Amino acid sequence: MEKISLSYEKALTDAQVQSVAAEALAAQKTLHAGNGKGNDFLGWLHLPSSITPEFLDEVEQVAANLRKRCEIVVAIGIGGSYLGAKMVIEALSDSFAAYKGGKGTQVLFAGQNIGEDYLYELQELLRGKQFGLINISKSGTTTEPAIAFRLLKKQLEEQVGKEEARNRIVAVTDAARGALRKLADMEGYKTFVIPDNVGGRFSVLTPVGLLPIAVAGFDIKQLVGGAADMEKACDESVPAAENPALRYASARNVLYRSGKKVEILVNFNPKLHFLAEWWKQLYGESEGKEHKGIFPASVDFTTDLHSMGQWIQDGERTIFETVVSVKNMKHTLAIPSDDENLDGLNFLAGKRIDGVNKMAELGTQIAHVDGGVPNLKIEIPAVTEYCLGQLIYFFEKACGISGYMLGVNPFDQPGVEAYKKNMFALLDKPGYEAESKAIKARL
Ligand code: PA5
Repeated sequence: MEKISLSYEKALTDAQVQSVAAEALAAQKTLHAGNGKGNDFLGWLHLPSSITPEFLDEVEQVAANLRKRCEIVVAIGIGGSYLGAKMVIEALSDSFAAYKGGKGTQVLFAGQNIGEDYLYELQELLRGKQFGLINISKSGTTTEPAIAFRLLKKQLEEQVGKEEARNRIVAVTDAARGALRKLADMEGYKTFVIPDNVGGRFSVLTPVGLLPIAVAGFDIKQLVGGAADMEKACDESVPAAENPALRYASARNVLYRSGKKVEILVNFNPKLHFLAEWWKQLYGESEGKEHKGIFPASVDFTTDLHSMGQWIQDGERTIFETVVSVKNMKHTLAIPSDDENLDGLNFLAGKRIDGVNKMAELGTQIAHVDGGVPNLKIEIPAVTEYCLGQLIYFFEKACGISGYMLGVNPFDQPGVEAYKKNMFALLDKPGYEAESKAIKARL
């Protein structure tokens, strides 16, 4: 089994991590006992091992139907109803798939912003194309995806008729509640349910993530298999020293308490950009409460070494880095020799690009540690479905433990309502009359 691994020797000693061992174990125990804060949202804890092959077959069949009918499928959703699928699809896709054309159905995203130009240009692209929609919203009432769905549903029905549109629209939502559930039942769309006890940012291994990932042509059985193996590796019965989630949660809490308030998730592989976006939501929404919590940030190296490198090396010493390092690339490419050697790089001729990247990674680690930036490292054997599945569960489990160690409820997000209230008040939404008056008086 290709296993992901965590090392923290460039950040902390074993003794430092040990100093919070009892707390970390207690947090894990609370999680497993289901008697902590937010315990009605623990459906993700044993989700990987509870997913049946039959269920995955059903998701694959629905994906196959969309793939048969559509050149493009637009996955509509935001936050936890967007980032998981986006992360996995970006990580596994050919970086230039959009320009190479031809092979299979492309998955695009909408409803993750309110960009007028974005939506206009998407509609332009879809004009005359065979396309379908996966509308994903747990609450079924989120404004951003609802606007995108309105536009794209109308366009789809105009292009292929209401009957065929029904064959190309899948709704992923609550079992009974919300506007999307009502609409799906009324229109007779195929639906998948987001379990009540799985919050948005923990939902990538439900159809929220699995369906778009399967439509993009990736192996959801391997993804879930990797997560299920990580569930075992992080089980309560595993000794603390061998449980990667427990070790990561412990390490980051020790660092936080020593004044490291910002964690930067680092990659040296551009395909992992959205891993960090997903991770930022997972940790930011889970821990940023009661005026506490590590601020989750991210960089793509070596790209950002040429922009953020100075700050990280020499700015305020309140940061630590967690590097997601990929051991093996999918492809092999060597640097060619050049007769003129004007750039002086012939000393690299014949060496693999990844060999250079790995030395950039090592050199950066040494420089940043020398500069006072503790460095955690998560090594993944390769960017595959199986390894991403492991990473997903590893980060989720560590997040639950870490949130409890911090003393917050890691499974709610009361803070995200504030902007919505103001936006509705500013837009004169019926029912917000008093808020409208109050906010307009402040302008
Ligand atoms: O983690 C969360 O709960 C949020 O980020 C939601 O996922 C996001 O707001 C989308 O919500 P919904 O799926 O209800 O449309």
